[in-house]
Amino acid sequence: MEQIQIIDSKNHVGETVKIGAWIANKRSSGKIAFLQLRDGTAYFQGIVVKSEVPEEVFQLAKSLTQETSVWITGEIREDSRSKFGYEIGVTGIEVIGESHDYPITPKEHGTDFLMDHRHLWLRSSRQHAIMQIRNEIIRATYEFFNNNNFVKIDPPILTASTAEGTTDLFETNYFDQKAYLSQSGQLYMEAAALAFGKVFSFGPTFRAEKSKTRRHLIEFWMIEPEMAFMHQEESLEVQEQYVAFLVQSVLDNCDHALDVLERDREVLKKYTQLPFPRISYDEAVELLKKNGFDDIEWGDDFGSPHETFIANSFDRPVFILNYPKAIKAFYMKPHPTRDDVVICADMIAPEGYGEIIGGSERAIDHDYLLEQIRNHNLDEKEYSWYLDLRRYGSVPHSGFGLGLERTVTWLAGIEHVREASPFPRLLNRIYP
Ligand code: 4AD
Repeated sequence: MEQIQIIDSKNHVGETVKIGAWIANKRSSGKIAFLQLRDGTAYFQGIVVKSEVPEEVFQLAKSLTQETSVWITGEIREDSRSKFGYEIGVTGIEVIGESHDYPITPKEHGTDFLMDHRHLWLRSSRQHAIMQIRNEIIRATYEFFNNNNFVKIDPPILTASTAEGTTDLFETNYFDQKAYLSQSGQLYMEAAALAFGKVFSFGPTFRAEKSKTRRHLIEFWMIEPEMAFMHQEESLEVQEQYVAFLVQSVLDNCDHALDVLERDREVLKKYTQLPFPRISYDEAVELLKKNGFDDIEWGDDFGSPHETFIANSFDRPVFILNYPKAIKAFYMKPHPTRDDVVICADMIAPEGYGEIIGGSERAIDHDYLLEQIRNHNLDEKEYSWYLDLRRYGSVPHSGFGLGLERTVTWLAGIEHVREASPFPRLLNRIYP
């Protein structure tokens, strides 16, 4: 007898098969037991008919408790009533691991309780759907960059030089030296771009931010492409093409997950239309002021209500261009005619999901960068290697970073970024 996974049911209609599964739920009448079966690939129903199986099999089916693991044997049949389309007519059940008093019942639970049980909560159909969308975004990311001649390069995680300022660093001992967990691989990716042309990284990054918002994680995954011989305008085109490709991939390959999450496909479809609108930081401040935001002045960074208002003025992701130099990182290219702004852009997702991409064209002048490093009180010695990139064949180059979990949160249409990570690290949480 062949052992199959639920997702492959369509290829085994009429066959008797064996499936390893868990009991997600169960209901029974006097004559039939309906087992909601889950094997990690999909959910479907196992039907146990009293008159068609030995009495002990029917009694066992009726006694199964939530999350008991079982070997199920039976015949795969079409089931036109369920969206999945298939079910199994059960003939045999063998219990593998019992499960008593499973803590996560079908009733409502509070967030803290669920977070304490994240290792079990992951088994629910909603979490399954979110992780499928995450998996699709990861898969599509590799497809997009591989199709476009990018080379995947892995920057270090233990670093001595930092890209995004020194306020939110995780410090650790590196023998008799200080080291930090990477906040961004960017500086190393710039070195890689000057070696390989177009590169991307995809790895964990860490920020000791004391932010307790629905958009902030302490540990998150970032995709950081870096492109030699590219100015900002070309980089923006790569960014919008990449994001539209992610949206289309989720639409094409996450049908079931989108159903479970009740995500409106028509809304998502709009996000595949290019180009995405662009407004300058100056225009964004004007827009906010005209609409009653008295708490913003030119020079301030945007908070989440500001980003949400700007995003709601468009029906697609929007780029905000050229922020004040004083609130941005040291490595950004200065504007050719203004010394108060830099050549950068943030992509703000619609529907209040906030910034999903931060990027810029990089400063390429050695002396300007050295001055910036000094102005930002960074340790010059640690950036000597970075300045080498401007000493030996410096070229225009641009890059950006997309936050994986924020993108998952947005495309899945969920409330909080914590559900977009299997084991989120939050300000007050490192368990489980
Ligand atoms: O805007 P950020 O800080 O940009 C950089 O790190 C650049 N060095 C990237 C580059 O040019 N190579 O972060 C980029 C993205 C944000 O837009 C956001 O999506 C995500 O990373 N991000 C976070 N996601 C979750 N929790 C946090 N605390 C995040 N901080 C940034």
